[in-house]
Amino acid sequence: MSRYRIALIGGDGIGPEVVAEAIKVVAATGVEVDTTSYDLGAARYVRTGEVLPEGVLAELKGYDAIMLGAVGPAIGSKEVPSGILERGLLLKLRFDLDLYVNLRPFVTPPSVGDSRFGPVDFVVIRENTEGTYAGEGGFLRKGTTAEVATQGSVNTRFGVERCVRFAFELAAQRERKHLTLVHKTNVLTFSGDLWQRTFDEVSQEFPEVSVAYNHVDAACIYMVESPSRYDVVVTDNLFGDILTDLAGAVSGGIGHAASANLNPARTGPSLFEPVHGAAHDIAGTGKANPSAAIRSAGLMLEFLGERKAADTIFSVLAEYAPEPGLTTSQIGDAIAERVSNAN
Ligand code: NAD
Ligand code: IPM
Ligand code: MN
Repeated sequence: MSRYRIALIGGDGIGPEVVAEAIKVVAATGVEVDTTSYDLGAARYVRTGEVLPEGVLAELKGYDAIMLGAVGPAIGSKEVPSGILERGLLLKLRFDLDLYVNLRPFVTPPSVGDSRFGPVDFVVIRENTEGTYAGEGGFLRKGTTAEVATQGSVNTRFGVERCVRFAFELAAQRERKHLTLVHKTNVLTFSGDLWQRTFDEVSQEFPEVSVAYNHVDAACIYMVESPSRYDVVVTDNLFGDILTDLAGAVSGGIGHAASANLNPARTGPSLFEPVHGAAHDIAGTGKANPSAAIRSAGLMLEFLGERKAADTIFSVLAEYAPEPGLTTSQIGDAIAERVSNAN
């Protein structure tokens, strides 16, 4: 069995708390990992002004995978302006490591059996390097009454096509073989047209995959009222960001929602992190649910080729319902124990 080198970026708020539990559970699978923790996030920024030094970025490129908790200040923080860490650290990693697929699976754990939304089992493939996230835009006459701010959406045929093709390949492997494009083609007539044409063309290569299209606003209704209609969803960066918080909420809660930022070409490490953020409102209280980070670690093991260890984690998460009142680390201990017993 290989020994994997994993870089850990706990980050801010509950990030370090949930990453610690994820690594505890990885250790319980018996897969051997060497971990190195990186001090990145708000504390380092406030202390040194650094967000992601070039030397650290170069080092991170040498790992087999990266696990990240969450980065970002408390809302309204005066010390760390909004966007500094999100853009300078997380998005920089997504762009520089070419993590063009953000794969976010949503499965209602049976432990949340009484969910008002019914059982959910779908995957959102979110384009992860373009759209409004690309950083196009700027200010004119900033600070004056005539101020202009623009924030463009960058959509390349290359970027859209590789993401759409990944989504078709995934849908083709799943039982239902169904793929829904979510966009806003009725208003975003340039980017939406590129997405729709690319989707239609790539779909010719996958006759076994049935397809659908939803405008993003309607997708919000369907995701709440009848989420079981979805199997695989592919969408752009910003719609994917918003839809996946909603998807988390309808599939047992954001504390379960995991994600894999993938470089499918494997030209460098991929990055695994929960969908949720730093949750400063509950940091240090023991109330953070580590399940999302633990499931993300399962996605990491799966991508590294450790299928059996990953499946063990997924099946424990599917069956285990923490008793109310357990702390973050107690939940991590309980999951690690079940994973270890399953070996
Ligand atoms: P958030 O996801 O941190 O929190 C939203 C709500 O969900 C809060 O009520 C929080 O308590 C709850 N929550 C989140 N994770 C939870 C968990 N594991 N268990 C239980 N409850 C949980 O979103 P926000 O408040 O909008 O953002 C806070 C900060 O995190 C911001 O700086 C933001 O930029 C950043 N952020 C980072 C990431 C990331 O690093 N991937 C993702 C989202 C937000
Ligand atoms: C997410 C987060 C990030 C995003 C932020 C922190 C940059 O919300 O991973 O969903 O918007 O992609
Ligand atoms: Mn988000």
